[in-house]
Amino acid sequence: MNAAAPPSPYARIGGESAVRAIVTRFYDLLEEDKAYADLRTVHAADLGPVRHGLTRFLTGWLGGPRDWFERGPCIMSLHRAFPITPALADQWAMAMTCAIAAQEDIDPAIADSMTQALGHMARGMINFGLDDSAAA
Ligand code: HEM
Repeated sequence: MNAAAPPSPYARIGGESAVRAIVTRFYDLLEEDKAYADLRTVHAADLGPVRHGLTRFLTGWLGGPRDWFERGPCIMSLHRAFPITPALADQWAMAMTCAIAAQEDIDPAIADSMTQALGHMARGMINFGLDDSAAA
């Protein structure tokens, strides 16, 4: 048996140009749509480095070249440095949902999986502003 590995999600969505288009749309939304104003504010004035970082992260996460993952801390540890409220996580997930949905010709099954997985990841980063008084 020598079955070829199935193509990665990265290959199936169109590789680097598709990932770059989604990330460009995501940060353009943060810059242009007031619905994401709070999320924009927690980022640095220059979005250039994070545009590059998210492109490389998604590339590896989708099964493409893994240079981002070989570089350092995991994505969850890295975000512990930022106060992430439920509202900020929702803004992140909503902007990413829109950025993916606007990608022409994307396989709808992959678009759906990406949207759901990244939404869960963003909400898993919440580390601030959760009312835990009910647990006391
Ligand atoms: C699945 C969810 C998320 C992913 C995949 C993600 C991904 C990334 C990546 C790859 C970077 C660049 C880090 C680097 O390459 O060194 C970054 C930076 C950052 N992220 Fe996220 N992120 C997510 C959710 C969030 C949320 C919910 C917030 C809300 C506050 C947030 C705030 C930031 C901030 C403030 C930076 C630093 C960049 C800057 O200062 O401009 N992220 N994120």
